[in-house]
Amino acid sequence: MNLTDYRTLGRSGLIVSPLALGTMTFGNQSWGSSDAVSEQIFNTYLDAGGNFIDTADVYSGGRSEELVGQLIAGRSARDRVVLATKFGFNAEKGNPHAGGNGRKQIYRALEGSLKRLGTDYVDLYWLHVYDMVTPVEEVLHTLGDLVRSGRVRYFGFSDMPAWYAIKAATLAQVRGVPGPVAMQMEYSLVARQIEGEHRPAAREGGLGIVPWSPLAGGFLAGKYRQGEDNGKRGRLSGSNPFSGPFTKFTERNWQILDALRTVAEEIGRPPAQVALAWAVAQPGIASTLIGASKVSQLEDNLAALEINLTPPQLETLNTVSSPGLDFFSAGLRQVVFGGVDVRGWND
Ligand SMILES: NC(=O)c1ccc[n+]([C@@H]2O[C@H](COP(=O)([O-])OP(=O)(O)OC[C@H]3O[C@@H](n4cnc5c(N)ncnc54)[C@H](OP(=O)(O)O)[C@@H]3O)[C@@H](O)[C@H]2O)c1
Repeated sequence: MNLTDYRTLGRSGLIVSPLALGTMTFGNQSWGSSDAVSEQIFNTYLDAGGNFIDTADVYSGGRSEELVGQLIAGRSARDRVVLATKFGFNAEKGNPHAGGNGRKQIYRALEGSLKRLGTDYVDLYWLHVYDMVTPVEEVLHTLGDLVRSGRVRYFGFSDMPAWYAIKAATLAQVRGVPGPVAMQMEYSLVARQIEGEHRPAAREGGLGIVPWSPLAGGFLAGKYRQGEDNGKRGRLSGSNPFSGPFTKFTERNWQILDALRTVAEEIGRPPAQVALAWAVAQPGIASTLIGASKVSQLEDNLAALEINLTPPQLETLNTVSSPGLDFFSAGLRQVVFGGVDVRGWND
């Protein structure tokens, strides 16, 4: 497989590469990449045939969108690139209308994004995060209006409960109006919770899954060591947005990393490539978001598409990282059908 192994994003006509370029690092001075390195990363991805670029209004305080807009224009690539950005996280402390998913805020956020991106439309507009108050009908109506106006081509939902996405997809289908085409959720060998509710909901609603942090912020690249001073090894060192309750340094995760290292050594590939190959191979995954703070990391990660993990290698990784969401399992299905292995229409 390579980046030109294009596929549709969910049940839609939007065509994307199997790896999407995440630009959360672009313009981030503390754990991201300078403007010059961001440009090299962008060019390397495009030159390899990649067409799916992911940013957000809040990344690097808007600098990521500015850079992405300039880089796309510099390559005259607006038509061939699928440009995705997001709204929802607050951009102005103390102003509730500068965040969330209400109609007033979505219009405000889109105006700002289009200005920074230097374009008059977004290919894929993500609700960044469920705000826990705005009715799904209002979000659907607002985004549907934006699709009709042409300023947004498609939309998707990120970081939301499965019920919220499937309610939106169902309402849209019944009403014959635009609905979400994809969901963007954290997914990696150390974060498999979406397999419980989100993956079946995505399949039912025709949503392509776009995993974020498939390397758990770099943890699965294998550069951190248990019990050692992880001082300056990367983004997860010292004080960072992924520490405290979001830490990846747990006993369970170190065990998963050990198994990943074993498989990586067996096939002579870096752990990062194997972790990405695992994510790409999972059911329902449309396009996996990759992040890099250096060009060499991006090159390394693109090579993950060359790997086909064998069933025993997948089994090793799946077993050690099992999310323990066992109730609706193959075992239960066998019990229900009297010991017979029954396959469903979409298995
Ligand atoms: N919807 C959401 O809520 C949400 C949340 C997070 C991210 N995202 C999106 O998902 C994208 C990817 O997320 P992510 O950056 O967290 O992904 P990730 O792949 O889990 O982490 C990327 C980081 O891992 C390290 N790394 C990457 N490749 C490596 C390699 N080959 N060897 C060693 N280290 C490597 C780098 O950090 P170092 O600098 O430490 O080396 C890099 O910045 C983002 O850019 C963004 O577009 C969305």
